[in-house]
Parts: sequence; structure tokens; C-alpha cells
Amino acid sequence: MELKQLTKHCWYSNSDPTSDCPSLGYILSDAGSSIMVDAGNSPKHHDEFMDLLKNLSLPLPRLCLITHWHWDHTLAICSVEVPVVACDKTQSHLIEMENWSQEDIKKFYISEEYAQAEYPSHELIHPKSADIVFHDHIEINLDGLRVICQFVEGPHSDDSTLIYIPEDGMIFAGDSSAGDFSKPNIAYDPFLLKKYTDTITSMEFSCFLHSHREPLNREETFLFRKRQF
Ligand SMILES: [Fe+2]
Repeated sequence: MELKQLTKHCWYSNSDPTSDCPSLGYILSDAGSSIMVDAGNSPKHHDEFMDLLKNLSLPLPRLCLITHWHWDHTLAICSVEVPVVACDKTQSHLIEMENWSQEDIKKFYISEEYAQAEYPSHELIHPKSADIVFHDHIEINLDGLRVICQFVEGPHSDDSTLIYIPEDGMIFAGDSSAGDFSKPNIAYDPFLLKKYTDTITSMEFSCFLHSHREPLNREETFLFRKRQF
């Protein structure tokens, strides 16, 4: 795992397609306070990210912001030692997962080959919900650096949240720009895709990070979107 700088205050760890590890985001204020974006897909993934920060002598995060409920972004919440922040729609999904029986966890494990790659046994999976829940949006003042969590209607899931750092023109988008993996051929709902595109078009940004892809500048982001209409 590597940490790469995106903008003055933002970094990301590389994703790993072999285990479905998404990128994790890292936001560091000038005064030395930090926030992480997404928890990771397993305690191992989360611990590797923490070790990376420690090895680089970077301040450890004070908060963890969740982009959406999917397991590869949230199953490491059980390892996060700081408050975890999620929108109310994400929290509903996380509570449902937290209430999974051992049988439910086993079913999930059997159906997800990437979870099998990440966890030696389903018994090591411990879903957990968030600590701080917001409706629609929340703005965090990270020692003077504005960090905005904004729920967005989009094609990937019903709870997508953009993590937006206006000063840097940075959007941590989670998987929000992707299609719906629960639909055949990972379909894009055209109505939701149009709404989503209108939302990001109205935002001032110069760097856009999808959790499983390389970062894009504004022009590249819209070229990419056009191909999906
Ligand atoms: Fe996802």
C-alpha cells in the first residue's frame, strides 16, 4: 500500500483489485489535524493504512467519514478507534448489517469471492454502524479547513456521500459515479446518472477520486461521464 498526494491537503492509498480494497482518503489540515475517508474492507486493510500513516509520521485521523455502506468501505469500522460519521441512509444499511446473524454473515461470505480473499473465515467479520449520523450534509471545520460530507443521488447506491474539500477543489467520491452492482451488467439508471452529473457539474472541483480508479481532473471526469450516457 502506498499513500499518494492529490492536492495540498489530500492524499489517498491505492486500491487493490485482487481483494476489492478501495482507496482510503486522508485529509490533513495546515494545523496538523486529520480525517480519513472510509474505514476499509477488513481490519487488515485498516491496520495497513494506519501503519502507513505511522511510518510516514503523519498525524492519525480524528474522524472517519464513510462514503457509502458497501462492505469493502465499511467492514473495518470495527477497527476504527475514532468516531465514524455517516449519512442517515448509510446508517440504515449499516444497522441492518450490524444485526446480521452468523448465518447471514456466512451467506454474504460465500457469495463474495473478494471477502473470501480478504478474510480466512466468515467468523472474523464483525459489521458495525457509525457513531455520528447526519441528514443530507454536514460541514466539519478541521482547524480551519472545510470538509463537507454531502449526500448525493446517484446511480451506484441509494446512500452515496461525496466528501468535498472546497479549498482544494477535491471530491472523494467513493463509488458514487459507478453503476449499480446489484443490477444486471452493473446498469446505470439514466435518471439517477443525469441527476448525479448535474450535481457534480454544479460543484467547483479540480480533482475527483473514485475509490477503485485513478484520480481524474475536472475535464477527464466529464469525458468519462459522457461515455456512460
Ligand atoms: Fe460500492
